[in-house]
Amino acid sequence: MYARKSEGKELRRGRSLDNRTVSSSFGRGSTTIIFTLKNEVGGLIKALKLFQVRFHFLYVDTDMVFSEDACDWPGMNVIRSFYSIFFGCVCVCVCLCVFISQVCVCLDCVSDVPGVPWFPKKISDLDLCANRVLMYGSELDADHPGFKDNIYRKRRQYFSDLAVNYKHGEPIPRVDYTAEEVRTWGVVFRELHKLYPSHACREYLKNLPLLTKYCKYSEDNIPQLEDVSHFLKECSGFIIRPVAGYLSPRDFLAGLAFRVFHCTQYVRHSSEPLYTPEPDTCHELLGHVPLLAEPSFAQFSQELGLASLGASDDDVNKLATCYFFTVEFGLCKQDGRLRAYGAGLLSSVSELQHALSSSANILPFDPTVTCNQECMITTFQHVYYVADSFEEAKNKMREFAKTLRRPFTIRYDPYTQSVDVLEDTNNINSMVKDIRHELDIVEDALNRLSKKLQSV
Ligand SMILES: [Fe+2]
Repeated sequence: MYARKSEGKELRRGRSLDNRTVSSSFGRGSTTIIFTLKNEVGGLIKALKLFQVRFHFLYVDTDMVFSEDACDWPGMNVIRSFYSIFFGCVCVCVCLCVFISQVCVCLDCVSDVPGVPWFPKKISDLDLCANRVLMYGSELDADHPGFKDNIYRKRRQYFSDLAVNYKHGEPIPRVDYTAEEVRTWGVVFRELHKLYPSHACREYLKNLPLLTKYCKYSEDNIPQLEDVSHFLKECSGFIIRPVAGYLSPRDFLAGLAFRVFHCTQYVRHSSEPLYTPEPDTCHELLGHVPLLAEPSFAQFSQELGLASLGASDDDVNKLATCYFFTVEFGLCKQDGRLRAYGAGLLSSVSELQHALSSSANILPFDPTVTCNQECMITTFQHVYYVADSFEEAKNKMREFAKTLRRPFTIRYDPYTQSVDVLEDTNNINSMVKDIRHELDIVEDALNRLSKKLQSV
């Protein structure tokens, strides 16, 4: 899951910078740069701009003078503005006093193409960016239903630790869910299943029984991510990676490029089973997983991810908005009727009903229009976009991706689970050889088929 631009919030307030902590959380190859600034508004931005393109920030600790309630203090705007300039991938810790700034950057994440943001080149590179959780994770906002529940918060810390310690290739830890968690899952499961036959798209309805059979989906059992990941791998090549909370759009989409879906493993608070301010495992398992098992949908999702690698912040936000109105809130037309395929709809009883009602505003999916639509986080969407099929949505997204400003093309290599950057004739020649080989296989298959038909 990823955080919308408006959702990026400061995390871990008051945490002191400890390079060992940062290194263990974010992997090897990080370094800390400590420098002193004049006490002037804008000084920190000027300094950080030196690193903007070539470095990937893990952590910035700015010790500046201001009081806790000084929200209108100009320095706070400085913090906010550099936070918005530099991404979605940095945790900002603002302490009191003095003028020393520490910037921790990951040398493994240094972009090797000037002007292009760092991006993972192989699937294991996701270890470098999968833990840059922007919000929630183990910390909850004051308006979160579980904010005052210390037992729930301790449980969330447990799930957060599982995700943070996970590395690519390891089995996803199995969770012994509590009776309360299973009850909460059961309420969501039961209420949504009443709507699925009349509201979910046919691909969803086709795959749901398979999940019951192979991954133990049922009202009184929360499926294990490890089992679901194996199932998806066989169906569409997607695998699951546990995540502690919201990722930036860039990091979340990067996972899709490698057919990796970042999934939460915790359950929403039991006080409000049909409401959650953040994606939880009910949303992932009931909303996303049945569609991720569908090869055409998996391809669509991966192409969104591939288009995001090395793209500008502006283009990543456009792609993330298209993701939001398709993978999360998309509708399609089947047998002359509207059906939902978006996970945000298929995991929300009230919005699923609303989206297919006459009061919903529905437009045809067009990435050039959809990419500018405002994403609603706490209310129903103002608009839903409908596609005739995943194939149609994929073709439109392909055309849209060609309009994005990126100085190279990317090709995914499924054998090595890595991406090739096609920016010179050597790369392109190699790709042409592969295509020729594929065409040889097609020609051979057609010849054999033709002989078979002639002999009949
Ligand atoms: Fe989601």
